[in-house]
Amino acid sequence: MELSPEELPLPERYRFLISVIQPRPIAWVSTQSPDGRHNLAPFSFFMGLTANPMSVCFAPLRNRQGRKKDTLINIEMTQQFVVNIATEDTAGKMNQSSGDYPYGVSEFEMASLTPVPSVKVAPPRVKESPVNLECELMQIVAISDGPLGGNLVIGKVIYLHVADRLWREGNISHQDLRAIGRLEDACYVKTSDVFQMPRPIIKGQ
Ligand SMILES: Cc1cc2nc3c(=O)[nH]c(=O)nc-3n(C[C@H](O)[C@H](O)[C@H](O)COP(=O)(O)O)c2cc1C
Repeated sequence: MELSPEELPLPERYRFLISVIQPRPIAWVSTQSPDGRHNLAPFSFFMGLTANPMSVCFAPLRNRQGRKKDTLINIEMTQQFVVNIATEDTAGKMNQSSGDYPYGVSEFEMASLTPVPSVKVAPPRVKESPVNLECELMQIVAISDGPLGGNLVIGKVIYLHVADRLWREGNISHQDLRAIGRLEDACYVKTSDVFQMPRPIIKGQ
């Protein structure tokens, strides 16, 4: 099969992307409106960007009507967010928080999660998540405005929270973290099927 993306209807283009780019890590992003209402939603178009400064990015798409997600609306207004890491223990609640609730409804309440104060930013972090990255907005890269278009949100990580049971001088093992990843449809993956492969050592480097 060979074709250009434009030959596929929009929903199928989306389905294609999420079925070939996998597994995807999940940023569970908490934000706050200027008047203090909490918001929480998962995003698997997510990755780490640079270590200097420590930075991450994720992509909130517009919905099928072209409407912006509440997460993006809050970040545009407040320039702050927290990336919480979703794990096996919080999988069900993470999924519950992805419901399309009206703006202003707290997914913390909808999913029975505990918002706890952050140190450097106003949005709360998820107490049940073992790693929280407090972020300050660096840049929003607009990709497109239409249905299933969207934006790339780039954030500088300005404060880290790591559960003491995980912390090993900055190195966190997958056995301890038990992160989950997203596949196609409603499929997820655990990090329990792992193999090791050291990188080649090139003489003279
Ligand atoms: C595991 C998972 C990953 C998701 N990844 C994305 C994503 O990368 N981009 C996106 O726009 N929506 C994604 N969604 C859907 C959003 O979480 C959903 O639209 C949510 O209602 C957005 O909430 P908000 O309007 O409060 O920001 C994902 C949902 C799940 C369950």
